[in-house]
Amino acid sequence: MIKLIKNENFKTKIKGKQVDLYTLKNDNGITAQITNYGGRVVSLWVPDKQGDYQDIVLGYKTIDGYLNSNEIYFGALIGRYGNRIAKGKFVLNNSVYKLATNNDANHLHGGVNGFNNIVWGAKQISDSKLELTYLSKDGEEGYPGNLNVKVIYKLTNNNELQIEYIATTDKATPVNLTHHSYFNLLGAGKGSINNHLLQIKASRFTPINDVLIPTGELKDVKNTPFDFTKPTKIAKHINDEVDQIKYGFGYDHNFVLDGTGLRLVAKVEEPISGRILEVITNEPGMQFYSGNFLNGKDVGKENLPYKYREAFCLETQHFPNSPNQLNFPSTILKPRNTYQSTCIYKFSIKE
Ligand code: BGC
Repeated sequence: MIKLIKNENFKTKIKGKQVDLYTLKNDNGITAQITNYGGRVVSLWVPDKQGDYQDIVLGYKTIDGYLNSNEIYFGALIGRYGNRIAKGKFVLNNSVYKLATNNDANHLHGGVNGFNNIVWGAKQISDSKLELTYLSKDGEEGYPGNLNVKVIYKLTNNNELQIEYIATTDKATPVNLTHHSYFNLLGAGKGSINNHLLQIKASRFTPINDVLIPTGELKDVKNTPFDFTKPTKIAKHINDEVDQIKYGFGYDHNFVLDGTGLRLVAKVEEPISGRILEVITNEPGMQFYSGNFLNGKDVGKENLPYKYREAFCLETQHFPNSPNQLNFPSTILKPRNTYQSTCIYKFSIKE
């Protein structure tokens, strides 16, 4: 049974801006609740093979839950730059830019006040569509240029949660927007993801150093724990004694997705419930993060603790640290150009 969170639980003002909770539904009963605080997906109810609905994303039933959380990215929109920029520094058009550092010496997910931590302008367009807007000012977190961002969340009758990102700038700037839902296809807080079968259409990944910055290499996944080209249990190699797994504390890596254009890039199947999640994007990369920093301290919506590795994130993106890795696809948005990115999470049930 779907248990909707009350709007009142999110009605507050943060830095003078109104926070609220919006409910999107499709004709098949799939329901998503999204707050404009951080553009976060707060709940996402999806049926299993018996027709039982579960809320499959980690999160809280009150705004205070989010404001006091140990994990600050649950369900959030991430920007201006998804993942890490080494030492929070890059050079663009002969100027050195210094970004806020919030992950030891590095910059992570847009800095101290990333897009996860701001109140977006919100307009519900229909029962199934929400439009969020934000003006990230020149100099915010150290980035150049006024960046106008629009994100459209749409729940289609094809059982897709579509996220479309559009941005324009008045000065060249790195842009790499993504979404940070923590999924568990058994239901949030309902157990391990070990037996989820994961397939990623990526024949290469970007190896990292011991502070999770890509080395610059694009490495073949063959004969490594990163070979998800065929459906594979998430836990199969998660504790392998190899440097890459040790550096990531499990999986926390960017996969170099095969092909180009809007395409199916990943599929996750949970064998007991039969729930299937597919990921479709036009991005060249995707971060697979296996919840290695969850530790049970965050107690979520159903008063269940969110334990170590009991959720996964699939974040469509350009590669981490691209502003400093000139062999990676460029993340620089120039004035007069438009940034466009699509991420679709599509739900189905195994026949
Ligand atoms: C990063 C992790 C980080 C996590 C935060 C992921 O996208 O790659 O290193 O700890 O986000 O929730």
